Amino acid sequence: MLDTPKAAEKSHADGKILQSASDGIGVITFNNPDKRNAMSLEMWEGLGSALTELRDDPDVRVVILAGAGDKAFVSGADISQFEKTRHNAQASEQYSKRSEAQRALLANYPKPTIACIRGFCLGGGMQVAMLTDIRLASDNSQFGIPAAKLGIAYGYDGLKHLVSLVGPSWARLLMYTGMRIDSAEALRIGLVDRVVPDTELWNATSEIARAISGNAPLAIKAAKITIAQVLKDSDKRDMDAIRQIGTDCMDSEDFREGRRAFMEKRKPSFTGR
Ligand code: COA
Repeated sequence: MLDTPKAAEKSHADGKILQSASDGIGVITFNNPDKRNAMSLEMWEGLGSALTELRDDPDVRVVILAGAGDKAFVSGADISQFEKTRHNAQASEQYSKRSEAQRALLANYPKPTIACIRGFCLGGGMQVAMLTDIRLASDNSQFGIPAAKLGIAYGYDGLKHLVSLVGPSWARLLMYTGMRIDSAEALRIGLVDRVVPDTELWNATSEIARAISGNAPLAIKAAKITIAQVLKDSDKRDMDAIRQIGTDCMDSEDFREGRRAFMEKRKPSFTGR
């Protein structure tokens, strides 16, 4: 069983997005297991609200995204809404605007994020997973983008992340066929970072989240900002942002604490200042 926290502190989208936080770790759970956690527009917006609240909670240092139940992380957008909300280009533009705004929050999230993937991770679920910083998957997961099976264009952002993770050739194979691949293949092509047995997924994910939450937040922010800039086209890189966060780190109380703790042979206690 994926032992995600049982008691959500808060819920959004009629309980279909759950949010909790403890010990510096925020958790957002996609909670519509009967539909394999397919994402309705309300759920996209609930995801946005949960991300915003955890972003603004100073005690939260890292956020895990997971799916409820044992079958899926997220099985994509809720296709049953398409007839009403995405039946032609004009409707689709409205739909995309509303869901893109939430994905932009995740894309530009200032704190580290981890996708804890169990079961199906398809379509929009892949978009969510690819926007997180780190992807851990159980050995029984399946990945795919069945846009060509539905007649949907997957869009620039989703494909940009796919290509940057797996390269253009695998991106084409996945997109042209709409095929599903298993965890072992996803690991091999770089779509996920680590695969663990199903029963160990939550422990493995929390262990990494704990390691992150115990480290110096400014140093992590520096890595996050710099890696994001590395991935941009060279003419769009914000080198000033990299310099600024470098200066912030070197002048920080946490750097002083890190040095002292090392010399005193004790565990550092970081505050993010
Ligand atoms: N949107 C809406 N409903 C979905 C859904 C989606 N993306 N994915 C699953 N569901 C619903 C099914 O319609 C079914 O509903 P029902 O119980 O009312 O019949 C229920 O979830 C369970 O799905 P089912 O297909 O019976 O389960 P499964 O374990 O055999 O297969 C999937 C799971 C995810 C492989 C399969 O449901 C599927 O292919 N879903 C669509 C995936 C997709 O195309 N995503 C991209 C959308 S852009």
